[in-house]
Amino acid sequence: MSHLVAPSVLSADFNHLGRDAEMINNSQADWFHVDVMDGVFVPNISFGFPVIKALKKLATKPLDVHLMIVQPERYITQFRDAGADILTVHLEASTHLHRTIQAIKATGMKAGVALNPHTSVTLLEDIIVDIDLVCMMSVNPGFGGQKFIQHTFKKVEDLSNMIRRHETECHIEIDGGVTLDNYQKLVHTGATVLVAGNTVFGSENPTSTIAALKQPLN
Ligand code: DX5
Ligand code: ZN
Repeated sequence: MSHLVAPSVLSADFNHLGRDAEMINNSQADWFHVDVMDGVFVPNISFGFPVIKALKKLATKPLDVHLMIVQPERYITQFRDAGADILTVHLEASTHLHRTIQAIKATGMKAGVALNPHTSVTLLEDIIVDIDLVCMMSVNPGFGGQKFIQHTFKKVEDLSNMIRRHETECHIEIDGGVTLDNYQKLVHTGATVLVAGNTVFGSENPTSTIAALKQPLN
């Protein structure tokens, strides 16, 4: 299967959210990537339930919701009710990660785990068979438009090997600093989902940039 592309709504124009959602609907994008920040887990605050509910009404594609919040287990059903299809929590933010993952799956959503750049992939060894997606942060979470951290390639390789060893199926999503220059190497290394904020919304023609990010490997 070819890789998926998930434009990050964080970089959209919130004065024209309907227009930007429509652009994603009509593009080759696969998912909407939706970043929720609480100002505690990360040094920024983005948006919450009312905006996600509004997006759900606009979007014809799955909402991939990335929680950058402390104690994410407190809000699982609210995110499901707001319209999340995939719910990703940070490993660093959930003490009882196994319980949190089971609770997400019990609501019918797909469950993901996000890792900060400094967090070792080896910490996923005992949860990898239970999850649908790993969100590999390739920048320190909190802001769009940051520079890609090169060490991510090594982590993608390690994670890819782990998934193979366990004979399980799990998406490897890359989040932060994905560009037209690095996406091919990322997919080649094992990435299956590319999040892109600034690369898409900062471009002249977001629709064709999405199409470019969807191009298969050379
Ligand atoms: C960062 C967010 C990302 C962000 C990516 O904390 O998790 O999803 O929107 O933006 P770009 O692609 O601009 O790095
Ligand atoms: Zn994200």
